[in-house]
Amino acid sequence: MSYETILIQVGLADKPRTSRWPARLDLLQSATGLFLAFFMWLHMFFVGSILLGESTFWTVAKFFEGYFIFGKSYPWLVSCVVGFVALVFVAHAILAVRKFPINYRQWRTIRAHAKMMRHEDSTLWVWQVYTGFLLFFLASAHLYQMFVWPQDIDPNLSSDRVWSYGLWPFYLVMLLAVELHGCIGLYRLAVKWGWPNAPREILRKVKWGLTGFFLLLGLASLAAYMKIGYEHRAHVGERYTPSWVVEKDGGAHRDQGDGQ
Ligand code: HEM
Repeated sequence: MSYETILIQVGLADKPRTSRWPARLDLLQSATGLFLAFFMWLHMFFVGSILLGESTFWTVAKFFEGYFIFGKSYPWLVSCVVGFVALVFVAHAILAVRKFPINYRQWRTIRAHAKMMRHEDSTLWVWQVYTGFLLFFLASAHLYQMFVWPQDIDPNLSSDRVWSYGLWPFYLVMLLAVELHGCIGLYRLAVKWGWPNAPREILRKVKWGLTGFFLLLGLASLAAYMKIGYEHRAHVGERYTPSWVVEKDGGAHRDQGDGQ
């Protein structure tokens, strides 16, 4: 059966052969990836605020709950942001799956090419597939938790999660995966769209610099949560209240996500 006959039989004979959709989907994949990479940078600074002390992290968490605007905490505001990020994350994952090798033979061919040619960009792409696959599971679980229990983002409760609930290995693996994935992704975007228009060697150096910086920030933050969690292990589940809030409220402050 000829190609033309097949096209007629499936009703595609009068359709133009060139579609703009692959290009549109590519653009959307880049845009969602760019958003997630920048979101992760901000996220790492918010999470890293624990390094400046429990009360700084508490202030950041309460800020997102609207406490300093409405005078009351509304944790569902955080759920709205998580919901939006989750939608972008799912869209990005669906668009990325198009590029995944669909069987073992394709996978072996790509690996063999990358190895044989010692082509760094192909090797980076293979790493992006590995880390993206991991993130599909890890980030989904994390986003679910943040969406359902936003009121539990608290210096003590977050540290309890990391230490007493044993989540630190989970965060460690996710941290490595997300930093590698995000920075490789940004590098590939720069090469693909030609902005910033710098030689690849420079772009690669910037990429490794950023990966190193965010990994260090993340590891230091994780160590801080582990230390606080360890010290708090006898009081698991007790929230943090900064001394200045206790003084202001005469000890009556009971901000337990009361706006929910
Ligand atoms: C709006 C959505 C998000 C919120 C509100 C959020 C919130 C948090 C919070 C509060 C922590 C501290 C630990 C804890 O409380 O359990 C944390 C840690 C972490 N999150 Fe998220 N997260 C979000 C999205 C993401 C996404 C999409 C990723 C990755 C794809 C991610 C990766 C991580 C990693 C790797 C850590 C550990 C960081 C470290 O310990 O240094 N998060 N997140």
